[in-house]
Amino acid sequence: MAIEIREIAKFERIGAHSHIRGLGLDEKLKALDVADGLVGQKKAREAAGVIVKLIKSGKMAGRGILIAGPPGTGKTAIAVAISKELGRDIPFVQVSASEFYSTEIKKTEALIQAMRRAIGVRIRERRIVLEGEVVGLDYNMVPNPYNPTQKIPESATLSLATKDERRTFTVSGRLALQFMYQGIEVGDVIMIDKETGRIVRIGKSEKAKKKFDLGDVETVEIPSGRIEKEREFTYVVTLHDLDEANARRSVFSLFEPVSREIDNEIREAVDEQVKRWVEEGRAELVPGVLFIDETHLMDIELFAFMNRAMESEMAPIIILASNRGFAKIRGTDIVAPHGIPLDLLDRLLIITTEPYTRDEIRKIIEIRAEESKIELSDDALELLTDLGERNSLRYAVQLLAPAHEFAKLKNSGKVEVDDVKRASELFVDVGQSSDYLKRWEEKMVAQ
Ligand SMILES: Nc1ncnc2c1ncn2[C@@H]1O[C@H](COP(=O)(O)OP(=O)(O)OP(=O)(O)O)[C@@H](O)[C@H]1O
Ligand SMILES: [Mg+2]
Repeated sequence: MAIEIREIAKFERIGAHSHIRGLGLDEKLKALDVADGLVGQKKAREAAGVIVKLIKSGKMAGRGILIAGPPGTGKTAIAVAISKELGRDIPFVQVSASEFYSTEIKKTEALIQAMRRAIGVRIRERRIVLEGEVVGLDYNMVPNPYNPTQKIPESATLSLATKDERRTFTVSGRLALQFMYQGIEVGDVIMIDKETGRIVRIGKSEKAKKKFDLGDVETVEIPSGRIEKEREFTYVVTLHDLDEANARRSVFSLFEPVSREIDNEIREAVDEQVKRWVEEGRAELVPGVLFIDETHLMDIELFAFMNRAMESEMAPIIILASNRGFAKIRGTDIVAPHGIPLDLLDRLLIITTEPYTRDEIRKIIEIRAEESKIELSDDALELLTDLGERNSLRYAVQLLAPAHEFAKLKNSGKVEVDDVKRASELFVDVGQSSDYLKRWEEKMVAQ
């Protein structure tokens, strides 16, 4: 069963920031040289650590942060680290400002939806649940109809046991997929909301800990009594989830897709409902983070809209990232720092990132190579470090994959200096590519 889970995981692309596990700070919020996958950039990391602390204690709602610095200095990396530090329960939504511009919905609607995805509501409810230790889990795998090289579960057979009862269920593909994503396996004590299929992993059973010699994992007792029972169930949904659920309810036909735009009346009704829940002690608001990367792509209208939305009681923490210096605010002729209107800038805490030293560049490349399981010769690492220093860090990091392919063709698998050279000859960086464009401009197809 564990093998099948890996089969799916194999198709995951190794993201550019997958090596980042956190901010790498000690208890006093001091940055360690290299920790949690992060190297250097200490001031920014420490500042981010304070922000995380404020967010966790609920003291940041409705505030904004700007991470500013030259390209490739780890702005996105630090935002990813913040999301890791926040943990699973605090929503973290990452978008690029370009995503606000689509033909399907208005840009302000896209922004408000993103903001509402970043606000959680922790709800406590009495629900009918299935609770027990997983004693059997078998997936019935079939090829993915949209991508036949990939296998997905069509269904699964799940056996649950308490101290007093054991039952076997056949679960749908949708639920089976959730089991996979959450990495549920035999020995886990879980709870499933019978109506919604929401799964909560409570912990490993003591029995499983002994059997598999799991070291110091936290264990929980195997529940007793019936598997199906009424229980207090706590889960986090986002305001956007509630908006959508309510929008769907007001649509006549089940087959009609929910319009991508949500009426403001629906949002107001959801806000009222949530406030009532909070007053009744049934729910808590969990303001999370909306991270907007490539902020310079936002225009004056979006900035104004966001500024206003941040005033509302239910506003998330906004983190912006920009690599622009003085630039025109999109949609105007006004030049402002980072291309951001001054009234908005005024309310932001600003974190800056600085260019890396050669040693830091080398270390980051090393970490990336390790993360992608690529072996590098010393010379190859030096050459990549040169390229990182001369061209850009991102360019050097991106050459790892093609260089590795060349190394594999020679059957060695270890990347040598020649493989890096060959890759850097075939792939150009942004600077070279714009030189090329300038040189051949007239010959290229214009719009
Ligand atoms: N301090 C660091 N430690 C480890 N890895 C880093 C660090 N800084 C950047 N990286 C990695 O280097 C690559 C480039 O960094 P990143 O994308 O965060 O830069 P950026 O400042 O967001 O650039 P841009 O302005 O172009 O968006 C990424 O793969 C990132 O994970
Ligand atoms: Mg970035």
